[in-house]
Amino acid sequence: MPDMDGRFEIVFKNCSRNCSGVCGHGMRMPLGEHSIASVADKACFVTDGNMPENFSRILERIFPKPGKKLFYRLPRSENAKNLAEIEKMCLFLYENGFSQNSVIIAAGGGAITDSAGFAASVYMRGIRWISVPTTFLGQIDAGIGGKTGVDLRLDGRICGKNIIGTFWQPAAIVLETEFLESLPPEELRSGAGELAKYAILMQTEEGRGLRKAIPGVLAGQPQALGLCVQICAAMKARIAARDERDIYGIREKLNLGHTAGHAFETMSGGRIPHGIAVAHGLKFAINLSKEKEIIPKETAAEMLDLISLLKLPTLELKEADFSRFSELISRDKKNRGAKNRFLLPKGFGQVEIEENILDSLLKKAYMGAISGA
Ligand SMILES: NC(=O)c1ccc[n+]([C@@H]2O[C@H](COP(=O)([O-])OP(=O)(O)OC[C@H]3O[C@@H](n4cnc5c(N)ncnc54)[C@H](O)[C@@H]3O)[C@@H](O)[C@H]2O)c1
Repeated sequence: MPDMDGRFEIVFKNCSRNCSGVCGHGMRMPLGEHSIASVADKACFVTDGNMPENFSRILERIFPKPGKKLFYRLPRSENAKNLAEIEKMCLFLYENGFSQNSVIIAAGGGAITDSAGFAASVYMRGIRWISVPTTFLGQIDAGIGGKTGVDLRLDGRICGKNIIGTFWQPAAIVLETEFLESLPPEELRSGAGELAKYAILMQTEEGRGLRKAIPGVLAGQPQALGLCVQICAAMKARIAARDERDIYGIREKLNLGHTAGHAFETMSGGRIPHGIAVAHGLKFAINLSKEKEIIPKETAAEMLDLISLLKLPTLELKEADFSRFSELISRDKKNRGAKNRFLLPKGFGQVEIEENILDSLLKKAYMGAISGA
């Protein structure tokens, strides 16, 4: 990883569109004088209404002179990931003369990069966008890799997470770790849920480094956050470049914990932060792997200890909610015709796919996953 003044560069090779990113602290024009943002005729900064005071100062420093600057606010968090909001945003772009020479700069958490990236992919059949993730979860995962999308809703309530979406690589990714200084503890904990996934997926020294960094991440220590962003962003970029469209089984492993996690998120009506739901989903996957005797007991215990570092809140779900859980996992978009399909950990750095698992085993794993700690 080349070091550039405390920054490193991520380059996506083999992707449908050229995409490069920079990661670091205190960036100034990170993508060069002739960056997309500078040459575009218009730039629309998309944020949510909850941004801290230092936000526009940092954005101003990173993007000092895009042609014409406009600002658009999406609703906060998961409420942004809504088709009706995308239509409103496209109307705003249209009324302001945005064309294929213009650029969208999505600056916010994963909900903003997912939804503004999705709008960029469908507006005029696709315009350029720059991903500027500002949460820890966004910088290690959501803002990288070009999966964009919104949730499916019925009567205003989420009934399917990320069901409407596209693959649309950002022209550039900016991972400015200074944004993370204003993150509240619950957002750091949520990001640590995805971090635990990376730590389980890595068998290497770097994976052990991630495990050790969890307490520092929860305490908001810049060094721990910066280290994790570097390691995870590089891994996500490598995987997305090798299997951009998620068809060769390489990118699929990044979904560890997500089948159950998305079900928990949907069942909470979007109240549980994504990373917390994923962390409970990881517990589910580890428990199920134990039930299926895929993972050695000591390794499962080591993984569960790692997750207990997150001090997860108990999910407000009961045994009686299992039938709804079972229905949601049977509709997972990755089932490929099976009744259910799960990625299960075999060991650190190793996963296995299991399909059509009996309800009795699923229920045991579910009961273990909904408890706290
Ligand atoms: N596309 C992908 O590959 C991918 C991967 C993982 C997750 N996701 C999606 O990402 C979303 C979750 O993202 P998230 O965890 O970033 O949550 P989020 O986008 O809901 O943001 C969480 C909160 O943090 C606030 N916030 C953002 N930046 C801040 C900052 N610098 N300081 C203070 N507050 C700040 C936001 O206003 C919001 O209230 C989910 O919708 C999930 O499905 C997508």
